[in-house]
Amino acid sequence: MKILGIETSCDETAAAVSQDGTAILSSIVSSQVAVHAPYGGVVPELASRNHIKNILPVVNQALAAADLKAEELDAVAATQRPGLVGALLVGFSFAKAFAYGLGIPFIGVDHLDGHMASVLLKESPPPYPFVALLASGGHTAVYHVISPTNADLMGRTRDDAVGEAFDKAAKMMGLGYPGGRVIEELAARGDDNAIFFTRPYLDKKSFDFSFSGIKTAVSRCIQEAGADLENQKADIAAGFQAAVGDVLCHKLIHAAEVKTCRDIALVGGVAANTHIREQLAKAAATRGLTVHMPPLAYCGDNAAMIAIAGYHYFQQNRTTGLADDVYSRAATR
Ligand code: KG4
Ligand code: ZN
Repeated sequence: MKILGIETSCDETAAAVSQDGTAILSSIVSSQVAVHAPYGGVVPELASRNHIKNILPVVNQALAAADLKAEELDAVAATQRPGLVGALLVGFSFAKAFAYGLGIPFIGVDHLDGHMASVLLKESPPPYPFVALLASGGHTAVYHVISPTNADLMGRTRDDAVGEAFDKAAKMMGLGYPGGRVIEELAARGDDNAIFFTRPYLDKKSFDFSFSGIKTAVSRCIQEAGADLENQKADIAAGFQAAVGDVLCHKLIHAAEVKTCRDIALVGGVAANTHIREQLAKAAATRGLTVHMPPLAYCGDNAAMIAIAGYHYFQQNRTTGLADDVYSRAATR
């Protein structure tokens, strides 16, 4: 079964083709980073307009890379929620029309199920159930993942998402947008013991997060550094990343203990952070846990994960009607 996946929930216009819910025949991601960078964050109106411009060429590229004609597709899946409504509407409406024109099923997919399905794209995917930490620019949450279509929320951020904290820390240090990769590169040249950031665990037993305090701590460090900021930036980045990494690892491993799961997963844009990947792999190894992280290409927003999740929705007869709408908020779990 060949599914065309479409993702436009934020600032990536993406299309991919999956085969039988396991293989990816093509995956195209057109990033709008250059459009939004001058504003230091995603401008919703510009995101929608750029999706409109990009959607047809990106879908055509995905079909060409998979060496397929549209008529050979069996279904179309598109992100339905959560995200920027204007951005979601472009991919969702396009996908509806595309499926209707071809006379094939249309499947609206939850973006968060997509991220959790992204670990199915690694060589040895985790067996179900497992616990997953979704760490991205819009979301930070821990789930007990029962199946590709069923995950229970264990806890989530009460304020900023962790990727957002990376982006804001980078912005405060004048490093541009998005900040995750820049902070990681800078941190590699710094000493993570030079500046200590209090670990924002909240209650160590809770699976909720809070990253607004550490953002304020970064701002305080910048002020204290004053004219010496340029020399201290790498140490600030390293200290910040170490503190965030400790919290993410602690909560995910604690979730595995509570649910007695041997398999844990880290997904979402922040899962592309090599330092955090290595830190988690080490912490898990000492406890006999197996860590699953998507290949780097599938950590950030992409349509391959939407096509894979769409396949599993279809197996459960979860298709979507042409009158169905998009939603900015995450579904209640
Ligand atoms: O999953 P994603 O592409 O979009 C959302 O669904 O939000 O995640 C984007 C986020 C951004 O905040 C970005 O700064 C962060 O992921 N990110 C990283 C890294 N690469 C991207 N954060 C830390 N280290 C990285 N290497
Ligand atoms: Zn995402």
